[in-house]
Amino acid sequence: MQKLSTRHLLGIKDLTPDDIELIMATAREFKEVINRPIKKVPSLRDVTIANVFFENSTRTRLSFELAEKRLSADTLNFSASGSSVKKGETLLDTVNNILAMKVDMIVMRHASPGAPHFLSKHIKANIVNAGDGTHEHPTQALLDSFSMREKLGGDLTGKRIAIIGDILHSRVALSNILALKKQGAEVTLCGPSTLIPRYITDLGVKVSHDVKQTLAWCDVANVLRIQLERQQIKYFPSLREYSLYFGINKKMLDDLNKEIVVMHPGPINRGVELSSDAADSHHSIILDQVENGVAVRMAVLYLLAGQN
Ligand code: CP
Repeated sequence: MQKLSTRHLLGIKDLTPDDIELIMATAREFKEVINRPIKKVPSLRDVTIANVFFENSTRTRLSFELAEKRLSADTLNFSASGSSVKKGETLLDTVNNILAMKVDMIVMRHASPGAPHFLSKHIKANIVNAGDGTHEHPTQALLDSFSMREKLGGDLTGKRIAIIGDILHSRVALSNILALKKQGAEVTLCGPSTLIPRYITDLGVKVSHDVKQTLAWCDVANVLRIQLERQQIKYFPSLREYSLYFGINKKMLDDLNKEIVVMHPGPINRGVELSSDAADSHHSIILDQVENGVAVRMAVLYLLAGQN
């Protein structure tokens, strides 16, 4: 069996291009499995996985839980709200208590960048980063790449991918940039200058502040949510003004007179970064991304379990 070069998935930063190819190939096999009448395989029987979420989630948490069930793993679900974290228990104590129940793998979302990296220095179990603050969201980037490959009919070498919106606060943006560059894609970031970090071009990406020009250039537009909950100051005058200059609607997409794929990691601020008619249009593969998330997460869990 081919193996990953790492025993944790902390970020795309640590994956080699071969790791990404292995995850994509394994996910393709699992996508075939989950479309069969019997969707379950015994691959992770006797493996116990805890989903430890210190931040809210709909897609990522349910997708990991379903991926684990499809692989026949035993699962535990922990939410910080309603737990003894509220009584002051530390992250490490919380996780060590979960591991004492003979848990093999931790899937963790945390508001602090680097939280899973810190854990990996203190525990033996495999760790999957399900989003750490504004840092990385590796399985989102992997499922985005899988969905782009599926839609564009091949690998991403030379493909033109635009990431549009709140780049500054987005873990999806950083993980996507790293994943896309490792697969040979061209990447342009588009948004107001206040929402694009100054040194991001060091990662080999271009920057634009013109959404129409960016849409005309790209094969895929991955549109990101404005993360008001992470913004301590005002980065633009109002949501209405943001939407006027950077929002994408169906007419803008239709007027391009070309094939364009629209993606969004969710949750969508409908009417802000993406109008409802664009989000629900034939250009959009937003729900395909969600479907593919299960297969990609099955691949990640299966390959990491194989490292032990
Ligand atoms: N894409 C994503 O991470 O969504 P959730 O926050 O709902 O998990």
